[in-house]
Amino acid sequence: MNYEEAKEKLARYGQEHVLRYYDELTDEEKAALITQIDETDFSLLHNAKDHSDAQVRGVIEPLGAMEIPEIEARRDEFEAAGLEAIRAGKVAAVVLAGGMGTRLGSDDPKCMYDIGITHPVYIIERQIRNLLDVVEKAGCMIPYFVMTSDKNDTATRNFLKEHDYFGYDPDYVWFFKQEMAPACDYEGKVYMEEKGKIATSPNGNGGWFASMERTGILDVIHEKGIEWLNAYSVDNVLQRMADPVFIGAVLVTGRACGGKVVKKVVPEEAVGAMCLEDGRPSIVEYYDMTPELLAAKDDRGEPAYNFGVILNYLFRVSDLEDVVKNRLPLHIVNKKIPYIDENGEPVKPDKPNGYKFETLILDMIHEMSSCVPFEVVREKEFAPIKNKTGVDSVESARELCRLNGIEL
Ligand code: UTP
Repeated sequence: MNYEEAKEKLARYGQEHVLRYYDELTDEEKAALITQIDETDFSLLHNAKDHSDAQVRGVIEPLGAMEIPEIEARRDEFEAAGLEAIRAGKVAAVVLAGGMGTRLGSDDPKCMYDIGITHPVYIIERQIRNLLDVVEKAGCMIPYFVMTSDKNDTATRNFLKEHDYFGYDPDYVWFFKQEMAPACDYEGKVYMEEKGKIATSPNGNGGWFASMERTGILDVIHEKGIEWLNAYSVDNVLQRMADPVFIGAVLVTGRACGGKVVKKVVPEEAVGAMCLEDGRPSIVEYYDMTPELLAAKDDRGEPAYNFGVILNYLFRVSDLEDVVKNRLPLHIVNKKIPYIDENGEPVKPDKPNGYKFETLILDMIHEMSSCVPFEVVREKEFAPIKNKTGVDSVESARELCRLNGIEL
Protein backbone atom coordinates (compact mmCIF):
# COMPACT_ATOMS: atom_id res chain seq x y z
CA MET A 1 0.00 0.00 0.00
CA ASN A 2 1.28 3.52 -0.78
CA TYR A 3 0.32 6.89 0.72
CA GLU A 4 -2.43 7.59 -1.83
CA GLU A 5 -4.00 4.19 -1.32
CA ALA A 6 -3.84 4.61 2.45
CA LYS A 7 -5.54 8.00 2.13
CA GLU A 8 -8.22 6.51 -0.04
CA LYS A 9 -8.86 3.60 2.38
CA LEU A 10 -9.14 6.00 5.32
CA ALA A 11 -11.55 8.24 3.39
CA ARG A 12 -13.80 5.25 2.74
CA TYR A 13 -14.21 4.78 6.50
CA GLY A 14 -14.16 8.45 7.55
CA GLN A 15 -10.77 8.08 9.30
CA GLU A 16 -8.72 10.75 7.48
CA HIS A 17 -7.41 12.12 10.81
CA VAL A 18 -5.04 9.13 11.02
CA LEU A 19 -2.66 10.91 8.61
CA ARG A 20 -2.82 14.22 10.46
CA TYR A 21 0.78 14.05 11.73
CA TYR A 22 2.17 12.17 8.75
CA ASP A 23 4.51 14.97 7.65
CA GLU A 24 6.13 15.07 11.09
CA LEU A 25 7.06 11.37 11.02
CA THR A 26 10.43 9.84 10.11
CA ASP A 27 10.55 7.66 6.98
CA GLU A 28 10.47 4.55 9.13
CA GLU A 29 7.45 5.76 11.09
CA LYS A 30 5.70 6.71 7.86
CA ALA A 31 6.20 3.23 6.47
CA ALA A 32 4.99 1.64 9.73
CA LEU A 33 1.83 3.75 9.73
CA ILE A 34 1.02 2.90 6.10
CA THR A 35 1.45 -0.81 6.93
CA GLN A 36 -0.82 -0.43 9.94
CA ILE A 37 -3.47 1.29 7.83
CA ASP A 38 -3.17 -1.51 5.28
CA GLU A 39 -3.61 -4.21 7.93
CA THR A 40 -6.35 -2.60 10.03
CA ASP A 41 -9.95 -3.70 9.63
CA PHE A 42 -11.85 -0.39 9.82
CA SER A 43 -15.09 -2.06 8.82
CA LEU A 44 -15.86 -2.76 12.50
CA LEU A 45 -16.02 0.88 13.45
CA HIS A 46 -19.59 1.60 12.40
CA ASN A 47 -20.55 -0.56 15.42
CA ALA A 48 -19.57 2.33 17.69
CA LYS A 49 -22.82 3.96 16.63
CA ASP A 50 -25.15 1.22 15.40
CA HIS A 51 -23.94 -1.94 17.24
CA SER A 52 -25.27 -3.87 14.25
CA ASP A 53 -22.79 -6.76 14.44
CA ALA A 54 -23.46 -7.28 18.16
CA GLN A 55 -25.14 -10.41 19.41
CA VAL A 56 -28.88 -10.97 19.13
CA ARG A 57 -29.84 -13.68 21.60
CA GLY A 58 -32.13 -16.57 20.71
CA VAL A 59 -34.34 -18.64 23.00
CA ILE A 60 -32.34 -19.81 26.02
CA GLU A 61 -33.08 -23.16 27.64
CA PRO A 62 -31.18 -25.30 30.16
CA LEU A 63 -28.53 -27.80 29.12
CA GLY A 64 -27.69 -30.46 31.71
CA ALA A 65 -24.03 -31.02 32.56
CA MET A 66 -22.16 -34.28 32.90
CA GLU A 67 -21.72 -34.12 36.64
CA ILE A 68 -18.97 -35.43 38.88
CA PRO A 69 -20.73 -38.64 40.10
CA GLU A 70 -21.23 -39.79 36.49
CA ILE A 71 -17.67 -38.82 35.56
CA GLU A 72 -16.27 -40.72 38.54
CA ALA A 73 -18.32 -43.81 37.67
CA ARG A 74 -16.95 -43.75 34.11
CA ARG A 75 -13.49 -42.35 34.86
CA ASP A 76 -11.51 -45.41 33.72
CA GLU A 77 -13.41 -45.69 30.45
CA PHE A 78 -13.01 -41.97 29.68
CA GLU A 79 -9.39 -41.84 30.71
CA ALA A 80 -8.47 -44.82 28.54
CA ALA A 81 -10.13 -43.22 25.50
CA GLY A 82 -8.46 -39.88 26.19
CA LEU A 83 -5.01 -41.39 26.63
CA GLU A 84 -5.41 -43.39 23.44
CA ALA A 85 -6.16 -40.18 21.49
CA ILE A 86 -3.22 -38.38 23.11
CA ARG A 87 -0.82 -41.24 22.37
CA ALA A 88 -2.02 -41.29 18.77
CA GLY A 89 -0.94 -37.62 18.56
CA LYS A 90 -4.48 -36.42 17.96
CA VAL A 91 -4.69 -33.85 20.77
CA ALA A 92 -2.93 -30.51 21.24
CA ALA A 93 -3.12 -27.78 23.87
CA VAL A 94 -3.64 -24.13 22.90
CA VAL A 95 -3.11 -21.47 25.53
CA LEU A 96 -4.85 -18.18 24.83
CA ALA A 97 -2.30 -15.73 26.15
CA GLY A 98 -2.88 -12.69 23.96
CA GLY A 99 -4.93 -10.67 26.48
CA MET A 100 -3.78 -7.39 27.99
CA GLY A 101 -4.57 -8.21 31.62
CA THR A 102 -5.58 -4.59 32.21
CA ARG A 103 -7.42 -5.43 35.45
CA LEU A 104 -4.32 -7.04 36.89
CA GLY A 105 -2.45 -3.81 36.20
CA SER A 106 0.91 -5.27 35.24
CA ASP A 107 2.73 -4.28 32.05
CA ASP A 108 4.12 -7.79 31.66
CA PRO A 109 2.18 -10.56 29.94
CA LYS A 110 -0.21 -12.32 32.35
CA CYS A 111 1.59 -15.62 31.85
CA MET A 112 4.69 -14.09 33.52
CA TYR A 113 2.81 -13.03 36.61
CA ASP A 114 4.61 -14.30 39.71
CA ILE A 115 2.28 -15.53 42.45
CA GLY A 116 5.07 -16.98 44.59
CA ILE A 117 5.75 -15.93 48.18
CA THR A 118 9.05 -17.55 49.13
CA HIS A 119 10.18 -18.24 45.56
CA PRO A 120 8.95 -17.32 42.07
CA VAL A 121 5.90 -19.26 40.87
CA TYR A 122 4.79 -18.00 37.49
CA ILE A 123 1.27 -18.60 36.18
CA ILE A 124 2.46 -20.30 33.02
CA GLU A 125 4.95 -22.36 34.95
CA ARG A 126 2.09 -23.88 36.98
CA GLN A 127 0.17 -24.59 33.79
CA ILE A 128 3.14 -26.25 32.09
CA ARG A 129 3.64 -28.41 35.19
CA ASN A 130 0.03 -29.57 34.80
CA LEU A 131 0.56 -30.32 31.12
CA LEU A 132 3.72 -32.25 32.01
CA ASP A 133 1.63 -34.41 34.39
CA VAL A 134 -0.35 -35.59 31.36
CA VAL A 135 2.81 -35.99 29.27
CA GLU A 136 4.16 -38.25 31.99
CA LYS A 137 0.98 -40.28 32.26
CA ALA A 138 0.60 -40.67 28.48
CA GLY A 139 4.31 -41.30 27.93
CA CYS A 140 4.44 -38.93 24.95
CA MET A 141 4.75 -35.21 24.25
CA ILE A 142 1.68 -33.09 23.52
CA PRO A 143 1.95 -30.26 20.97
CA TYR A 144 1.62 -26.95 22.79
CA PHE A 145 0.54 -23.80 20.95
CA VAL A 146 0.88 -20.39 22.57
CA MET A 147 -1.23 -17.52 21.28
CA THR A 148 0.25 -14.09 21.92
CA SER A 149 -0.55 -10.63 20.57
CA ASP A 150 1.48 -7.68 19.28
CA LYS A 151 1.44 -6.33 22.83
CA ASN A 152 3.17 -9.29 24.46
CA ASP A 153 4.66 -11.59 21.82
CA THR A 154 8.35 -10.81 22.30
CA ALA A 155 8.12 -10.73 26.09
CA THR A 156 6.27 -14.06 26.19
CA ARG A 157 8.68 -15.82 23.83
CA ASN A 158 11.74 -14.48 25.66
CA PHE A 159 10.35 -15.37 29.04
CA LEU A 160 9.66 -18.99 28.13
CA LYS A 161 13.03 -19.32 26.44
CA GLU A 162 14.88 -17.85 29.43
CA HIS A 163 13.17 -20.39 31.68
CA ASP A 164 13.85 -23.32 29.34
CA TYR A 165 10.13 -23.65 28.75
CA PHE A 166 9.82 -24.81 32.35
CA GLY A 167 10.96 -28.27 31.31
CA TYR A 168 8.74 -28.59 28.21
CA ASP A 169 10.47 -29.85 25.07
CA PRO A 170 10.75 -26.73 22.82
CA ASP A 171 10.35 -28.92 19.72
CA TYR A 172 6.71 -29.26 20.78
CA VAL A 173 6.08 -25.55 21.39
CA TRP A 174 4.75 -23.16 18.72
CA PHE A 175 3.87 -19.48 19.06
CA PHE A 176 1.42 -17.56 16.94
CA LYS A 177 0.08 -14.02 17.10
CA GLN A 178 -3.57 -13.06 17.20
CA GLU A 179 -4.85 -10.02 15.38
CA MET A 180 -5.42 -6.54 16.73
CA ALA A 181 -8.56 -4.42 16.42
CA PRO A 182 -8.67 -0.61 16.31
CA ALA A 183 -10.04 1.25 19.33
CA CYS A 184 -12.25 4.26 18.74
CA ASP A 185 -14.26 7.04 20.37
CA TYR A 186 -18.04 6.89 20.66
CA GLU A 187 -18.38 8.38 17.18
CA GLY A 188 -16.38 5.57 15.63
CA LYS A 189 -13.20 7.61 14.99
CA VAL A 190 -10.07 5.61 15.77
CA TYR A 191 -7.85 6.95 18.52
CA MET A 192 -4.18 7.57 17.77
CA GLU A 193 -1.84 6.06 20.35
CA GLU A 194 1.12 7.99 18.93
CA LYS A 195 1.45 10.40 16.01
CA GLY A 196 2.34 7.47 13.78
CA LYS A 197 0.30 4.70 15.42
CA ILE A 198 -3.39 3.86 15.58
CA ALA A 199 -4.58 2.73 19.03
CA THR A 200 -5.30 -0.98 18.83
CA SER A 201 -5.91 -3.83 21.23
CA PRO A 202 -5.97 -7.61 20.86
CA ASN A 203 -9.22 -8.56 19.10
CA GLY A 204 -10.53 -10.88 21.83
CA ASN A 205 -10.01 -14.58 22.40
CA GLY A 206 -12.51 -15.64 19.69
CA GLY A 207 -10.11 -15.19 16.78
CA TRP A 208 -7.63 -17.84 17.92
CA PHE A 209 -8.39 -20.45 15.29
CA ALA A 210 -8.56 -17.90 12.47
CA SER A 211 -5.15 -16.67 13.64
CA MET A 212 -3.83 -20.24 13.61
CA GLU A 213 -4.95 -20.47 10.02
CA ARG A 214 -3.52 -17.08 9.03
CA THR A 215 -0.13 -17.72 10.63
CA GLY A 216 0.36 -21.16 9.08
CA ILE A 217 -0.05 -23.09 12.35
CA LEU A 218 -2.92 -24.98 10.78
CA ASP A 219 -0.40 -26.56 8.42
CA VAL A 220 1.50 -27.88 11.45
CA ILE A 221 -1.77 -29.26 12.80
CA HIS A 222 -2.47 -31.06 9.54
CA GLU A 223 1.09 -32.34 9.16
CA LYS A 224 1.00 -33.81 12.64
CA GLY A 225 -2.47 -35.29 12.25
CA ILE A 226 -3.88 -33.34 15.21
CA GLU A 227 -7.66 -33.74 15.36
CA TRP A 228 -8.61 -32.06 18.63
CA LEU A 229 -7.60 -28.73 20.12
CA ASN A 230 -7.96 -28.00 23.80
CA ALA A 231 -8.02 -24.20 24.06
CA TYR A 232 -7.87 -22.57 27.49
CA SER A 233 -7.14 -19.33 29.28
CA VAL A 234 -3.73 -18.43 30.61
CA ASP A 235 -5.06 -16.83 33.77
CA ASN A 236 -6.26 -19.90 35.68
CA VAL A 237 -3.35 -21.11 37.72
CA LEU A 238 -5.01 -24.50 38.39
CA GLN A 239 -5.99 -25.04 34.76
CA ARG A 240 -5.85 -28.74 33.76
CA MET A 241 -5.33 -29.06 30.02
CA ALA A 242 -5.22 -32.10 27.71
CA ASP A 243 -7.06 -33.83 30.54
CA PRO A 244 -7.53 -37.43 29.34
CA VAL A 245 -10.79 -37.88 31.28
CA PHE A 246 -12.32 -34.76 29.72
CA ILE A 247 -11.11 -35.69 26.23
CA GLY A 248 -12.41 -39.24 26.70
CA ALA A 249 -15.82 -37.97 27.82
CA VAL A 250 -16.20 -36.01 24.58
CA LEU A 251 -14.93 -38.90 22.43
CA VAL A 252 -16.97 -41.65 24.11
CA THR A 253 -20.22 -39.65 24.04
CA GLY A 254 -19.63 -38.71 20.39
CA ARG A 255 -20.34 -35.01 21.04
CA ALA A 256 -18.86 -32.36 18.80
CA CYS A 257 -17.11 -30.44 21.58
CA GLY A 258 -16.72 -30.09 25.32
CA GLY A 259 -16.38 -27.35 27.88
CA LYS A 260 -15.19 -27.70 31.44
CA VAL A 261 -17.68 -26.21 33.89
CA VAL A 262 -17.95 -25.65 37.63
CA LYS A 263 -21.06 -25.49 39.77
CA LYS A 264 -21.80 -21.83 40.35
CA VAL A 265 -21.56 -20.53 43.90
CA VAL A 266 -24.67 -18.39 43.38
CA PRO A 267 -26.82 -18.07 40.24
CA GLU A 268 -25.54 -14.49 39.79
CA GLU A 269 -21.86 -15.50 39.81
CA ALA A 270 -19.88 -13.68 37.08
CA VAL A 271 -19.23 -16.68 34.85
CA GLY A 272 -20.94 -17.62 31.59
CA ALA A 273 -23.49 -20.43 31.98
CA MET A 274 -23.79 -23.40 29.63
CA CYS A 275 -27.22 -23.55 28.03
CA LEU A 276 -29.11 -24.29 24.84
CA GLU A 277 -29.87 -21.36 22.56
CA ASP A 278 -32.37 -22.02 19.79
CA GLY A 279 -31.72 -25.72 20.39
CA ARG A 280 -27.92 -25.56 20.01
CA PRO A 281 -25.31 -25.52 22.77
CA SER A 282 -24.38 -22.03 23.86
CA ILE A 283 -23.13 -19.91 26.71
CA VAL A 284 -25.13 -17.11 28.24
CA GLU A 285 -22.93 -14.43 29.76
CA TYR A 286 -23.66 -13.53 33.39
CA TYR A 287 -24.68 -10.00 32.39
CA ASP A 288 -27.28 -11.44 30.00
CA MET A 289 -28.94 -13.53 32.74
CA THR A 290 -32.50 -12.23 33.15
CA PRO A 291 -34.36 -12.56 36.50
CA GLU A 292 -36.31 -15.47 34.92
CA LEU A 293 -33.13 -17.32 33.96
CA LEU A 294 -31.65 -16.69 37.41
CA ALA A 295 -34.77 -18.05 39.12
CA ALA A 296 -35.31 -21.08 36.80
CA LYS A 297 -35.03 -24.51 38.45
CA ASP A 298 -34.40 -27.98 37.01
CA ASP A 299 -36.43 -31.07 37.93
CA ARG A 300 -34.27 -31.61 41.03
CA GLY A 301 -35.05 -28.12 42.24
CA GLU A 302 -31.48 -26.92 41.49
CA PRO A 303 -30.84 -23.70 39.55
CA ALA A 304 -31.35 -24.60 35.87
CA TYR A 305 -28.31 -22.57 34.72
CA ASN A 306 -26.02 -23.83 37.42
CA PHE A 307 -22.81 -24.58 35.54
CA GLY A 308 -20.33 -21.88 34.65
CA VAL A 309 -17.59 -22.18 32.05
CA ILE A 310 -13.93 -21.85 33.06
CA LEU A 311 -12.51 -21.15 29.59
CA ASN A 312 -11.30 -24.68 28.85
CA TYR A 313 -12.82 -26.12 25.68
CA LEU A 314 -12.18 -29.07 23.43
CA PHE A 315 -12.94 -28.61 19.73
CA ARG A 316 -12.56 -30.87 16.71
CA VAL A 317 -10.23 -29.31 14.11
CA SER A 318 -12.53 -30.18 11.18
CA ASP A 319 -15.45 -28.37 12.87
CA LEU A 320 -13.27 -25.35 13.53
CA GLU A 321 -12.29 -25.25 9.88
CA ASP A 322 -15.98 -25.03 9.02
CA VAL A 323 -17.01 -22.44 11.57
CA VAL A 324 -14.07 -20.14 11.01
CA LYS A 325 -15.76 -19.09 7.80
CA ASN A 326 -18.65 -17.58 9.78
CA ARG A 327 -18.33 -14.29 11.61
CA LEU A 328 -18.68 -14.50 15.36
CA PRO A 329 -20.82 -11.87 17.09
CA LEU A 330 -18.93 -8.77 18.04
CA HIS A 331 -18.60 -7.72 21.68
CA ILE A 332 -18.39 -3.96 21.95
CA VAL A 333 -16.55 -3.11 25.14
CA ASN A 334 -16.53 0.29 26.79
CA LYS A 335 -12.92 0.89 27.88
CA LYS A 336 -10.29 3.41 28.88
CA ILE A 337 -8.18 3.99 25.79
CA PRO A 338 -4.95 6.01 26.02
CA TYR A 339 -4.56 8.42 23.10
CA ILE A 340 -2.91 11.62 21.90
CA ASP A 341 -5.02 14.77 21.88
CA GLU A 342 -5.26 17.51 19.21
CA ASN A 343 -1.97 18.97 20.44
CA GLY A 344 -0.22 15.63 20.11
CA GLU A 345 -0.05 15.25 23.92
CA PRO A 346 -0.56 11.77 25.42
CA VAL A 347 -3.70 11.33 27.54
CA LYS A 348 -4.35 8.44 29.96
CA PRO A 349 -8.09 8.62 30.63
CA ASP A 350 -9.36 7.75 34.11
CA LYS A 351 -12.77 6.71 32.87
CA PRO A 352 -13.93 4.86 29.73
CA ASN A 353 -13.68 7.01 26.63
CA GLY A 354 -14.46 4.65 23.78
CA TYR A 355 -14.86 1.17 22.44
CA LYS A 356 -12.74 -1.87 21.82
CA PHE A 357 -14.09 -4.69 19.68
CA GLU A 358 -13.70 -8.35 20.53
CA THR A 359 -14.95 -11.76 19.51
CA LEU A 360 -15.04 -14.45 22.18
CA ILE A 361 -14.24 -18.16 22.17
CA LEU A 362 -17.41 -18.86 24.14
CA ASP A 363 -19.45 -17.90 21.07
CA MET A 364 -17.80 -20.76 19.16
CA ILE A 365 -19.73 -23.27 21.27
CA HIS A 366 -22.95 -22.09 19.62
CA GLU A 367 -21.48 -22.97 16.23
CA MET A 368 -21.11 -26.63 17.27
CA SER A 369 -23.85 -29.25 16.93
CA SER A 370 -23.47 -30.67 20.44
CA CYS A 371 -21.39 -30.21 23.57
CA VAL A 372 -20.47 -31.96 26.82
CA PRO A 373 -20.53 -29.52 29.72
CA PHE A 374 -18.02 -31.44 31.86
CA GLU A 375 -18.09 -30.68 35.58
CA VAL A 376 -14.80 -30.36 37.42
CA VAL A 377 -14.10 -29.85 41.11
CA ARG A 378 -13.93 -26.12 41.45
CA GLU A 379 -11.30 -26.00 44.20
CA LYS A 380 -9.01 -28.24 42.16
CA GLU A 381 -9.25 -26.60 38.74
CA PHE A 382 -10.49 -23.05 38.98
CA ALA A 383 -8.23 -20.34 40.35
CA PRO A 384 -8.57 -17.44 37.92
CA ILE A 385 -6.36 -14.41 38.33
CA LYS A 386 -8.13 -11.37 36.94
CA ASN A 387 -7.65 -8.71 39.62
CA LYS A 388 -4.90 -7.59 41.95
CA THR A 389 -7.02 -8.08 45.07
CA GLY A 390 -10.42 -9.46 46.08
CA VAL A 391 -12.46 -11.77 43.86
CA ASP A 392 -10.47 -13.80 41.31
CA SER A 393 -7.24 -12.28 42.46
CA VAL A 394 -3.71 -13.30 43.29
CA GLU A 395 -4.82 -13.68 46.93
CA SER A 396 -7.69 -16.05 46.12
CA ALA A 397 -5.50 -18.05 43.73
CA ARG A 398 -2.77 -18.36 46.37
CA GLU A 399 -5.29 -19.72 48.83
CA LEU A 400 -6.46 -22.32 46.29
CA CYS A 401 -2.85 -23.25 45.50
CA ARG A 402 -2.26 -23.87 49.21
CA LEU A 403 -5.36 -26.07 49.35
CA ASN A 404 -3.90 -28.11 46.50
CA GLY A 405 -0.55 -28.51 48.22
CA ILE A 406 1.31 -26.21 45.83
CA GLU A 407 4.26 -24.56 47.56
CA LEU A 408 4.46 -20.85 47.03
P1 UTP B 1 -9.88 -11.78 29.76
O1 UTP B 1 -11.18 -11.68 29.12
O2 UTP B 1 -9.85 -11.89 31.24
O3 UTP B 1 -8.99 -10.56 29.25
O4 UTP B 1 -9.11 -13.02 29.12
P2 UTP B 1 -7.53 -10.07 29.64
O5 UTP B 1 -7.08 -9.23 28.50
O6 UTP B 1 -6.61 -11.19 30.03
O7 UTP B 1 -7.74 -9.18 30.94
P3 UTP B 1 -8.46 -7.76 31.12
O8 UTP B 1 -9.90 -7.96 30.77
O9 UTP B 1 -7.74 -6.79 30.23
O10 UTP B 1 -8.23 -7.46 32.58
C1 UTP B 1 -9.47 -14.35 29.26
C2 UTP B 1 -8.43 -15.16 28.52
O11 UTP B 1 -8.45 -14.85 27.13
C3 UTP B 1 -7.17 -14.43 26.70
C4 UTP B 1 -6.48 -13.92 27.96
O12 UTP B 1 -5.08 -13.96 27.78
C5 UTP B 1 -6.99 -14.93 28.98
O13 UTP B 1 -6.30 -16.15 28.86
N1 UTP B 1 -7.32 -13.36 25.70
C6 UTP B 1 -8.15 -12.30 25.95
C7 UTP B 1 -6.61 -13.46 24.55
O14 UTP B 1 -5.83 -14.42 24.34
N2 UTP B 1 -6.76 -12.47 23.62
C8 UTP B 1 -7.58 -11.41 23.81
O15 UTP B 1 -7.67 -10.55 22.91
C9 UTP B 1 -8.30 -11.33 25.00
